Amino acid sequence: MRENMGNLRRTHMCGNLRIENVDQEVTVMGWVQRERNLGSLIFVDLRDTTGICQIVFDSTVSQEIFEKSEKIRAEYVLAIRGKVRERESKNMDIPTGEIEILAEELRILDESETPPIYIKDDDNVSETMRLKYRYLDLRKPSMQNNLKMRHKTAKLVRDFLDENHFVEIETPMLTKPTPEGARDYLVPSRVNPGRFYALPQSPQLMKQLLMVSGMDRYYQIVKCFRDEDLRANRQPEFTQIDMEMSFVDVDDVIEINEKLLYRLFKELKGAEIELPIQRMTYKEAMERFGVDKPDLRFGFELVNISDIVEHSDFKVFSGIIANNGCVRGINVKGHGNEFTRKDISKLEDYVKTFGAKGLAWIKITDDGITSPIAKFLSQDELDNILNRMDGDKGDLLLFVADRPSIVFDSLGNLRNEVARRLNIIDKDDMKLVWITEFPLFEYDEEEKRYVAKHHPFTHPMEEDIDLLETEPEKVRAKAYDIVINGDEMGGGSIRINNPDLQQRMFKALGFSEEEAWSKFGFLLEAFKYGTPPHGGLAYGFDRLIMLLTNSSNIRDVIAFPKTQSATCLLTNAPAEVSKEQLKEVHIELDLK
Ligand code: AMO
Ligand code: AMP
Repeated sequence: MRENMGNLRRTHMCGNLRIENVDQEVTVMGWVQRERNLGSLIFVDLRDTTGICQIVFDSTVSQEIFEKSEKIRAEYVLAIRGKVRERESKNMDIPTGEIEILAEELRILDESETPPIYIKDDDNVSETMRLKYRYLDLRKPSMQNNLKMRHKTAKLVRDFLDENHFVEIETPMLTKPTPEGARDYLVPSRVNPGRFYALPQSPQLMKQLLMVSGMDRYYQIVKCFRDEDLRANRQPEFTQIDMEMSFVDVDDVIEINEKLLYRLFKELKGAEIELPIQRMTYKEAMERFGVDKPDLRFGFELVNISDIVEHSDFKVFSGIIANNGCVRGINVKGHGNEFTRKDISKLEDYVKTFGAKGLAWIKITDDGITSPIAKFLSQDELDNILNRMDGDKGDLLLFVADRPSIVFDSLGNLRNEVARRLNIIDKDDMKLVWITEFPLFEYDEEEKRYVAKHHPFTHPMEEDIDLLETEPEKVRAKAYDIVINGDEMGGGSIRINNPDLQQRMFKALGFSEEEAWSKFGFLLEAFKYGTPPHGGLAYGFDRLIMLLTNSSNIRDVIAFPKTQSATCLLTNAPAEVSKEQLKEVHIELDLK
């Protein structure tokens, strides 16, 4: 049975009814969360986007409506007119728990088959089912809240940037490859046989062109596409809050973004972040935390002990140092007793995934030291290590010896892993930090050449420009990342606006003039006609929403996300297409 709304019009939302509404006649509409038949009374929890309220069908009030209500099942869509009354047994756990609606009119607007997943938060249903039946999954209060937080955040960002004279400008989705360094998604052109558009990895070049155009301050909340390996906080299509400003240097970009972040956390989380946000150079972040996105909510900082063990009889250490390696450790202060040998062996397996060859350790207990390496170390070496690492009873010291990049990567990640295992991270703690002075270049072992760490238009720090030709690895960039609780929330840079400097940059990257022009010629051409100094930043909007909603999975803040293998379980995209469609775009498949 399905009925229309007739002359019923919604007067209230389910979740908004309160004791003040008692005796009012109301009309609500929504989905059946659950129904209980007590013989002469039927109770229905009706749900809409605001919450749930209880409806009562009483056979002594109307036999006809009562009989109709016996047909109601979970997820039926109902319109109810009735009178609000105070409940006899109140449920103070929900906002509407003091009242109920005694139904005087019922219209079944639609029926529902038994849904394949429960509409309930924290249900243990598999993510595959959640994604396949996403429209049902989105009925859950937590998901509705996540999407509303997304909306509110976008609105706040727009309001703030508008007040600060930023103009929202759309940029093309069908475009040329952008220089963000991931793989492109390509779109074949039907009318230009053999030619392809790339979906933008970011609007980077377009926003720089808008600065040449004199727009002064641009922003956009925009989809970006990157065909890369996915992780818990990565999607192949994700959203950026992207901005660019003219006539600015690093401090200007940072300053306006601190105001924006302050406003967001204050209004959406009720949290007051301390301004100015602390800054840390890339070098310091690596030395102390092993990663360029340090989580500052806990200690266990890296300590270099290379000089202490340089001449040690422990050949694993001294040998690696002799080969330009290093030995560093972390002190899991005060938590040593919480790690058994077996636990430490699991940590060793963990660091091996980052290329480490082992994990040496020293545990300091009430009965002295236990350690597989202590017997190889002299008393002096041991004393010096404990001294430098502040080793005390109850501590566990963990060491990796290797090339610096492997040591940093292993210990930086181990530090986070240990904190996770110990469950010592306060979820309400917010630690923001700007990471600055990134290296301009990164050596690519495969290509055997320097590549831009950010992108080729990033401005070097003035004091390092003269090193471009001689010691490129030492050149630092006017680039910055905003890191929150160990996640990279955003990043940006000041751009090069001087053609001579740009040429030197391309040269350092090993691009010939022709290569540079064929890739980015339109930008280089534009730069001939008066380019203001400019720079900007882009946030990972989805990551920001994860933070604001305490979500650990990026898919929980996106209405229709992709799986780990970049598929959509709801629509089954990507899908095969017909031969005719392929022919139209001049493509032949080779699927061997
Ligand atoms: P970048 O490449 O650092 O900079 O990207 C900016 C921010 O976007 C987020 N992000 C992602 N979020 C989800 N899934 C992904 N696959 C993904 N990739 C990146 C991160 C990151 O900090 N054009 C430059 C910005 C600039 O220089 O102004 C850019 O795109 O949070
Ligand atoms: P071995 O002499 O190989 O039995 O190693 C003794 C201890 O040193 C073990 O706890 C290993 O995990 C550790 N170890 C071996 N190689 C390394 C390394 N490169 N870095 C840190 N610890 C290591």
